[in-house]
Amino acid sequence: AKNVGILAMEIYFPPTCVQQEALEAHDGASKGKYTIGLGQDCMAFCTEVEDVISMSLTAVTSLLAKYKIDPKQIGRLEVGSETVIDKSKSIKTFLMQIFEKSGNTDIEGVDSTNACYGGTAALFNCVNWVESSSWDGRYGLVVCTDSAVYAEGPARPTGGAAAIAMLIGPDAPIAFESKLRRSHMSHAYDFYKPNLASEYPVVDGKLSQTCYLMALDTCYKYFCHKYEKLEGKQFSLSDAAYFVFHSPYNKLVQKSFSRLLFNDFLRNASSVDEITKEKLAPFSTLTGDESYQSRDLEKASQQASKSLYDAKVQPTTLIPKQVGNMYTASLYAAFASLIHIKHSELAGKRVILFSYGSGLTATMFSLRFHEGQHPFSLSNIASVMNVGGKLKSRHEFPPEKFVETMKLMEHRYGAKDFVTSKDCSLLSPGTYYLTEVDSMYRRFYAKK
Ligand code: ACO
Repeated sequence: AKNVGILAMEIYFPPTCVQQEALEAHDGASKGKYTIGLGQDCMAFCTEVEDVISMSLTAVTSLLAKYKIDPKQIGRLEVGSETVIDKSKSIKTFLMQIFEKSGNTDIEGVDSTNACYGGTAALFNCVNWVESSSWDGRYGLVVCTDSAVYAEGPARPTGGAAAIAMLIGPDAPIAFESKLRRSHMSHAYDFYKPNLASEYPVVDGKLSQTCYLMALDTCYKYFCHKYEKLEGKQFSLSDAAYFVFHSPYNKLVQKSFSRLLFNDFLRNASSVDEITKEKLAPFSTLTGDESYQSRDLEKASQQASKSLYDAKVQPTTLIPKQVGNMYTASLYAAFASLIHIKHSELAGKRVILFSYGSGLTATMFSLRFHEGQHPFSLSNIASVMNVGGKLKSRHEFPPEKFVETMKLMEHRYGAKDFVTSKDCSLLSPGTYYLTEVDSMYRRFYAKK
């Protein structure tokens, strides 16, 4: 199989959201802290009728319908998620309801979990399968689904929720450059979920930022080595049209990209211009540790990378800024933003993605765009996702109502024997929603 990659995509996020500006005021944070400090505009969240299973049922059903894919044509289904609803039964098995109906139970794959990285693990599994000798000619399907919620405090505005489904196969408009992939994985306690009675993580915010940036540096270094070995020339930011990052909040994405420019400067990459060299020269002797602490370096590299950021990163930031951190779906929502905004000018271009999951696991990898053939074309992917329409038709909740919802969800987490309000008035037609959890913890869903 050649040009294996992403043939089609669908994204779903809850229509319920809270404006960061309103949340900021409600929380008593200083004005601009969430909007400028974190760089976020709005945050989506699940109400009591939605969860990671309903969102993924919606995304998968919609993708199959809009691309007219017979459920029998799916041979592998992989789910990435870090939202624990059941410690044994996978989300994938809930999704099997869609496929059983058409008589297809012959589908490999289960769930992958490690913080925000599970979706990438799922994606690699599907791509590897299509490239392998066990491939049976059918499509792979990847689902990233998460509801990111935090306890009250500084991390709460970095929540979000979404599900993304991606169809995998050969001759894709979004093809993997499989040899260009490098990882960094190690043991860290930056963000983890040891309390099984709560949906909220334990998070060391500052450490998680440093772990993220260190993983980024290491992956980029390995990635550049690999490229140089394969291509016989240096890699620099100018060798890719776009860079897509896992996006817990936009400020970290800005810092990440400027960090890559600093790496280019340190390696003396040919593309770094004189002005950048001048700006970054004072920092060339910092040790690694010092460089993560230096506010001056942060400022100088952000200034130096501003115009490159606008060209190579800005178009990837729309959905993450509007919806928030979607954990496993976050990187792919950033990628979806790029397709939404730039689909007509992507063919032939290379895009680099950086996936990060706390704990920690990280990979940097490369994709190449092709025009594709209908229905698997970039323009059709953009029109099926209808990102603009979905963003427009949302319902803003006041912060008080958001907090109230979080309280109810705390109560519901791990609970049994309840029925939901079944109020699906805010959901668009075709959306799945939770109706009941019975005395045996079995969950029931309906479709609007
Ligand atoms: N106007 C403009 N900017 C402001 C204002 C203001 N009024 N007030 C503060 N800021 C800036 C700060 O200077 C800071 O920016 P900087 O980093 O460029 O200096 C930013 O807003 C955040 O403020 P802090 O006080 O540094 O951080 P806070 O204690 O609010 O916590 C954090 C932020 C750590 C991101 C927290 O939200 C968190 O823990 N989130 C979850 C962890 C996370 O997402 N980690 C990322 C990788 S791991 C993962 O994906 C889950």
